[in-house]
Amino acid sequence: MKSLIEKLTGTFSPSGYEDAIRAVIRKEITKLADEVRVDALGNLIARKGKGGKKIMIAAHMDEIGLMVTHVDNNGFVRFTGIGGVYPRNLPGGRVRFVNGTAGVIGLEPADHASDVPALDKMFIDVGAADKKNCPVRIGDVAAFERPFADLGNRLVAKSMDDRIGCAVAIEALRALKSTPHEVYFVFTTQEEVGTRGAQTSAFGIDPDLGFSIDVTGWGDTPGQKDFEVGLGKGPAIKIRDGGMLSDPRIVEWMIRTAEKAKLPYQREVLLGGTTDARAMQLVRGGVPVGCVSIPCRYVHTPSEMVDYNDVKNAVKLIVALLRAPINLGA
Ligand code: CO
Ligand code: ZN
Repeated sequence: MKSLIEKLTGTFSPSGYEDAIRAVIRKEITKLADEVRVDALGNLIARKGKGGKKIMIAAHMDEIGLMVTHVDNNGFVRFTGIGGVYPRNLPGGRVRFVNGTAGVIGLEPADHASDVPALDKMFIDVGAADKKNCPVRIGDVAAFERPFADLGNRLVAKSMDDRIGCAVAIEALRALKSTPHEVYFVFTTQEEVGTRGAQTSAFGIDPDLGFSIDVTGWGDTPGQKDFEVGLGKGPAIKIRDGGMLSDPRIVEWMIRTAEKAKLPYQREVLLGGTTDARAMQLVRGGVPVGCVSIPCRYVHTPSEMVDYNDVKNAVKLIVALLRAPINLGA
């Protein structure tokens, strides 16, 4: 599974420009699903099973990125963020444009060296001598570039958010030999700009219930406060985040299943941020949803870290959830 994670995190596909990652995932899942299709917003939808409860599982394919707003006469590229791009994570970083061009993020001089400059005081240097020879134009998009690193049980890469969720979904689809349900694994687009792909795909599928697979934050490095989730203690079962209250019946189903399968899990109460599950919950007449979270350090930096055992246990939990009949109770 590590080579799959390396392949997924090594692909450059910021929100709205998911062609490259969709092609990679499509190749992985075509033989595993009963049917694969792509909808108008680019969501990749894989169905397994037919006729039972419709369950939608969303993992987003997109990643945060940068978009060119202006190229100056000397060939320096000004940019804005796509999704949650934090200025202090950028200086000195490298980016790769979807067209292949590489660049370095530079800073204008500041009065105080310790100040964190705003995005408009930064630029991308793509090595161009002037505007005419600059290989990128207004509107071109880039993502962080940083190679995958295998630290043993801990894995580091750009875009673990949410390629690790995609990897978990692919491996769960591979391991799910049969299901009494009609399961839709959806690799969604545009999550980082507001769960947009999940919204349209959930409307199209009209599921009976569902959940997302996404990263969550971490509370186990120096100075972190008020968040109990840590790496290596199992996948987290989301109870709430900044945009959603999980359906208590879904939480209960997930906890019961984890305990029965003797899988480690953590209870997650996250104050900020949300996932595709929020969009799924609010389509049509409403859908009971939850989220299986992969604890992840340094989210939205170029070096996001997950624990490999958490990842493998998330796959096991999802397979256990999908292979048996579901009774959500009253
Ligand atoms: Co994110
Ligand atoms: Zn995410």
